[in-house]
Amino acid sequence: MPFAATGGLGDVLGSLPAAIKAELGEEGDVRAVMPLYSAVSDAWRAKMTKVMEFDMWLSWRNQYCGVYSLVKDGVTFYFIDNEYYFRRKALYGEYDDGERYAYFCKAVLEMLCRMDWKPDVLHAHDWQGAMSIVYLCRKYRLVEGFYGIKTVYTIHNIEYQGKYDTNILSDVFEMDWADMGLMEYGGCINLMKAAIVCADRVNTVSPRYAEELLGGENAHGLSHILNVYAYKFSGILNGIDYEYYNPHSDPAIVEKYNSTTAVEGKTVNKLALQKATGLPERGDVPMVALITRLATHKGLDLVAEVAASLLREDIQLVVLGKGEEKYERFFLELEARFPDKMKALIQYDRDLSKRIYAAADVFMMPSKSEPCGLAQMIASHYGTFPVVRETGGLYDSIKGYWYHDGIIEGNGFTFANYSADELYERTLAAVAVWRDADIRARFTEKIMTTDFSWNASANRYIDLYAGI
Ligand code: GLC
Repeated sequence: MPFAATGGLGDVLGSLPAAIKAELGEEGDVRAVMPLYSAVSDAWRAKMTKVMEFDMWLSWRNQYCGVYSLVKDGVTFYFIDNEYYFRRKALYGEYDDGERYAYFCKAVLEMLCRMDWKPDVLHAHDWQGAMSIVYLCRKYRLVEGFYGIKTVYTIHNIEYQGKYDTNILSDVFEMDWADMGLMEYGGCINLMKAAIVCADRVNTVSPRYAEELLGGENAHGLSHILNVYAYKFSGILNGIDYEYYNPHSDPAIVEKYNSTTAVEGKTVNKLALQKATGLPERGDVPMVALITRLATHKGLDLVAEVAASLLREDIQLVVLGKGEEKYERFFLELEARFPDKMKALIQYDRDLSKRIYAAADVFMMPSKSEPCGLAQMIASHYGTFPVVRETGGLYDSIKGYWYHDGIIEGNGFTFANYSADELYERTLAAVAVWRDADIRARFTEKIMTTDFSWNASANRYIDLYAGI
């Protein structure tokens, strides 16, 4: 973000480098590298300067590599240019992703070889970045200035590991057969596993998810290796970008508001969204929203189970997202059944998502697993009551509502079991709190002022770097 993004990882890599730079001040020199995807707009390209170009071997292939750069929020961004690899319709999900990211990771190191500047820490993300750490450790240590570079590897979602047939170890990844022991896991090449082994520190995006992974829950087969390396493994909760997600100044929303004007402000946004989507224009009806990739692990089977019952109440339901076809079809059919109460917007649209965060009253996020999750924090910051399952980063960021002696505790509605009944019950509990005008105003103010900014997390990363 803002150059190219498909989800939460894009958000994080858009804001974390600048947050670290802001915390480090003058002392810090933070640089980030990404592929020059075709999605990067001409407007951004016009701001770049070309830093270098070279030819690079990867196994038997010889490829052009251009490096462009620009500075944003004090961070120097580098873009690796190769149209054969990065001029594609999608960022990833291509048949040759293994080769594309091997190329990218090697290009990062080749670029550094040609620069006067060397980093103290190389920090790589997810399986796409894994090989930069592996190549550094296995091939580049003797390059001048590289010996002391420390490495941090962050797992944003352990479900996607970069698994390939062992046959392509040397042909695609340019690794020696002697590295099979490092690269192989469970019968495949596993890029994430190799980075876990090589990195000085490994972390994931919430403390709870780190515990779950060590305990074998949601670990997708990598629990064993994480336990072996548990001494260097931790969890650091993400934040959200308070400039981009700010209901007080957000250009995407109809009526700006802050924590004291939220009740009126959100009503104006709701009426506008109802008008735009053809739902009955009523400020007094609670609007429940779901904004997510339509993937099973987001808990959509639970939503599917309870949606019709919820829609028998006096509520409206707005769904935004695309993904698995069965869920797209399910929500479209639901809209056909409840045309006056339900809207299925099968698309990925960031501005529209912000209009929904601003308009809705209750936000459902019943994920089966959730490494961190950003949507619950965004919802909260826009004064929309989050209803979440207690897993991963949802557990770490949202604590259950509790009212006693006139005091309100918590910042959302949570449930423990992966159960449709619990989702149903907590969603209605959130609606009931919303219907109480006095408590609604107080609770909205409370959740909007919960701190989900990057400051704290950026400092945890700085501590991690300092520690190595
Ligand atoms: C992945 C995870 C999500 C996390 C994001 C940023 O998309 O699935 O939970 O918030 O990465 O770290």
